[in-house]
Amino acid sequence: MQLKNDLLLRAAKGEPVERTPVWLMRQAGRILPEYRAVRDSVSGFIELAQTPELAAEVTIQPVDLLGVDAAIIFSDILVIPEAMGLPYEMVEKKGPFFPETIKSASDLNNLRIANGTDDLRYVIDAIRITKKALNGRVPLIGFAGAPWTIFAYMIEGSGSKTFSKARAMLYTEPVLSHKLLQMITYSTINYLKAQIVAGVNLVQVFDSWAGILPPDQYMEFSLPYISQICDAIHDVPKTVFAKGAFFAREEMAQLNCETIGLDWNMGIEESRKKIGPNKTLQGNLDPAALYGSRKQVEEATIVMMEKFKGCRHIANLGHGVYPDIDPEMVKIFIQTVKDYR
Ligand code: CP3
Repeated sequence: MQLKNDLLLRAAKGEPVERTPVWLMRQAGRILPEYRAVRDSVSGFIELAQTPELAAEVTIQPVDLLGVDAAIIFSDILVIPEAMGLPYEMVEKKGPFFPETIKSASDLNNLRIANGTDDLRYVIDAIRITKKALNGRVPLIGFAGAPWTIFAYMIEGSGSKTFSKARAMLYTEPVLSHKLLQMITYSTINYLKAQIVAGVNLVQVFDSWAGILPPDQYMEFSLPYISQICDAIHDVPKTVFAKGAFFAREEMAQLNCETIGLDWNMGIEESRKKIGPNKTLQGNLDPAALYGSRKQVEEATIVMMEKFKGCRHIANLGHGVYPDIDPEMVKIFIQTVKDYR
């Protein structure tokens, strides 16, 4: 189907655009009262994510309510461990929790490589329903976690400030670590390919915990697996967002992807120099900027847009929008980008 608004895809490919496209990481869920209402109609996050009609509904909410230039399918990066045989729970106000974790090589025997179409049928169905309901209004973004970030949750069993169990594993069990990272990588490739068959127009890989590794470990345990994913995925543009990986920007410029996401700690001009002109940059307003006044949000957004001017750019925040941000401030951010020339 012909897209009515394909700004995101053109910007990703470096083609001319009338204006910069804008969307927000974590725009579905989190900030909208309309999301809370749908979520409260079921037992919680997991049931919502596993009910394709409802997942489609909350995917489309930000398009209707905020006016973003893309939808991102409502799911979570943690569906991959579950599809591999390690289920998660979502604890209210605390976040993800894995009753079982990977502690030793023998635990890998209980895992399998996920088949994206069969093991994650509910996401694939949600994508099909969303595509139909969007009716070409905006592109639909598919996503997955980067293998290192998924590994971190599978070892740690929950969120953590330090992920010290996961980081310890890289030192104590490097062979096991590579074996598990490779299994996650194959599962992720299968999953992203199934998302593309179902209709997503672009895929993003989130390496949310990139920044907790030292550079040499990042080059050994994370980037090669992201690179495998980029090389295996064809047909749609790819975005890699590695939060905190300021030290790997030159290497990321070599990835087989169209767009690199910048977090808000990464200088824009400096990143452009390191990454070069041949990739689109996505980002990178500090999410906390949206706590400011209307005028401050406008000003901060314009300052960001000025720094990206003349280069391939997709406007976004430097990480996911925070749950207690006023949706009105998100709308101001979006409108300021749309009005910017
Ligand atoms: O708007 C969207 O992008 C919706 C889809 C989406 C979710 N999670 C839904 C969700 C996406 C793209 C994610 C990615 C995700 N999940 C990441 C990578 C991006 C990032 O922020 O770094 C990570 C690290 C996770 C893991 C995760 N899931 C955590 C740590 C938590 C708890 C804290 C929180 O709210 O983010 C989740 C839960 C989760 N995933 C919620 C939503 C809407 C909140 C659950 C609820 O409704 O109570």
